[in-house]
Amino acid sequence: MSRASRSAGARLRAHAPGRVNLIGDHTDYSGGLVLPCAIDRGTTVEGVCGGVWVRLCSRECEGEARIPLAVDDSSRLRPAWARYAAGVVCELRPPLGFDGEIRSTLPIAAGLSSSASLTVALALALGFEGPSLELARLCQRAEQRASGVPCGIMDPLVVAASVEGCALRIDCASLTLTPVRIPEALEIRVLHSGVSRRLAGSEYAQRRAQCEAAAACVGPLRRARLRDLDRIEDPVLRRRARHVVTENARVDAFVAALRGGDLLAAGALMLESHRSLRDDFEVSSAPLDRLVERLSSIPGVLGARLTGAGFGGCVVALCEHGALEEGWGVRPSRGARWLADFG
Ligand code: GLA
Repeated sequence: MSRASRSAGARLRAHAPGRVNLIGDHTDYSGGLVLPCAIDRGTTVEGVCGGVWVRLCSRECEGEARIPLAVDDSSRLRPAWARYAAGVVCELRPPLGFDGEIRSTLPIAAGLSSSASLTVALALALGFEGPSLELARLCQRAEQRASGVPCGIMDPLVVAASVEGCALRIDCASLTLTPVRIPEALEIRVLHSGVSRRLAGSEYAQRRAQCEAAAACVGPLRRARLRDLDRIEDPVLRRRARHVVTENARVDAFVAALRGGDLLAAGALMLESHRSLRDDFEVSSAPLDRLVERLSSIPGVLGARLTGAGFGGCVVALCEHGALEEGWGVRPSRGARWLADFG
């Protein structure tokens, strides 16, 4: 990230996109593979630097965040969205306050990373300087502080580091980033299942603990082979691990299919991923399953799956142009940036 000038009275504007994950869910926190892409909807933070408070209002959410620069407990603030802002203040410790406004074009709690989009945009507006990976790690810690959910690195990293026109393959063990161009022939559409997703109230932490328990039996899931999983006695843990091992393989098969122009194969892998999240990882819901099933019978819809953590939220569909009018079309977009620095 390049430098933002930040002196009292300077006006700053930063933008961070949301993201949709094409394939590779519940793999990031065990060092696996993911393929999200940043989208052309996101969060913009604009304001003036100065003082000893970070004060923010939001066009979309009620209330105002008033956060002292020395805040140390972000988890109980109100309104609830202010906790994410306070998490960023705790992790970044900016020397100057900020008085600004948040605008978002993302649906909240839909599984499109509205929270990572907010924390990354705010960290930039508050003067973060450094590489995208450092920004992503800071925002991951901020979100964990704010929500108490042990979320992984995928969301803030793709939000910070995406490349226009591409999805981003992230190897969450080595943290290597590989942009993968989305063919022009494809349209990505996102549809809401009608049930909002609440990560904190969900079983996300339990799933993560189950993956850790499975890894304690067979070693890092990233390196495990399917036959190794027979050594896991508990059938639930075995299924959780099977999802992770097969999902990692699907990410690379999907990347190969995109690169080779085999769009039907890519679509089929999305459906397999959905089934695995439904049956082995058990993070789907009846509305998500119905939506995926209905979409997959529409001509020109190549594949569909739940996207993100599951437990409600959105489905992502890969389509031929014009095949689907429902939901909204999203374009693979570049990562976070300062929009203006009025010095
Ligand atoms: C949420 C988390 C991510 C990731 C996904 C599931 O979005 O924030 O780190 O674990 O769920 O893939």
